[in-house]
Amino acid sequence: MKLLIINGPNLNMLGLREPQIYGTRNFEALEAYIWSCCEEAGFEAELFQSNHEGAIVDCIQQAYGRIDGIVINPAAYTHTSVAILDALKAVSIPAVEVHLSDVNERESFRHVSYAGMACIKSFIGMGFEGYRSAILYLKDYLETA
Ligand code: DQA
Repeated sequence: MKLLIINGPNLNMLGLREPQIYGTRNFEALEAYIWSCCEEAGFEAELFQSNHEGAIVDCIQQAYGRIDGIVINPAAYTHTSVAILDALKAVSIPAVEVHLSDVNERESFRHVSYAGMACIKSFIGMGFEGYRSAILYLKDYLETA
């Protein structure tokens, strides 16, 4: 089974970016962590990061018929993008939302998640560990589906 892990804008700046919120580990470390979680769960994986909304929509569309589950941290597009929500709904691939920080404890504009409306589960405020929980949740979900 194959997973697609999508990371949205500015997550490539991890380590430099607001370390008091996102920590000091960089994006390379996050990708290495995600790879190891996929291996642990026995998934093949594709990792994708983009700062562009349309590129994320294209990536979700191209998953159709090829990918069994999606883990997505749409970053700032979480709170603005109906296009990403619609793409997730269009392909109907089970998707799990992840946020490193606890968006519900931050500014009120971060309390709305459009992408989350198309996701079967969200892991929020758990740092890197949220990706592991999302991958293991999808493993369980896909095995029992
Ligand atoms: C984020 C939370 C978003 O509100 C923010 O815009 C991000 C990262 C997180 O992982 O905590 O870029 O998705």
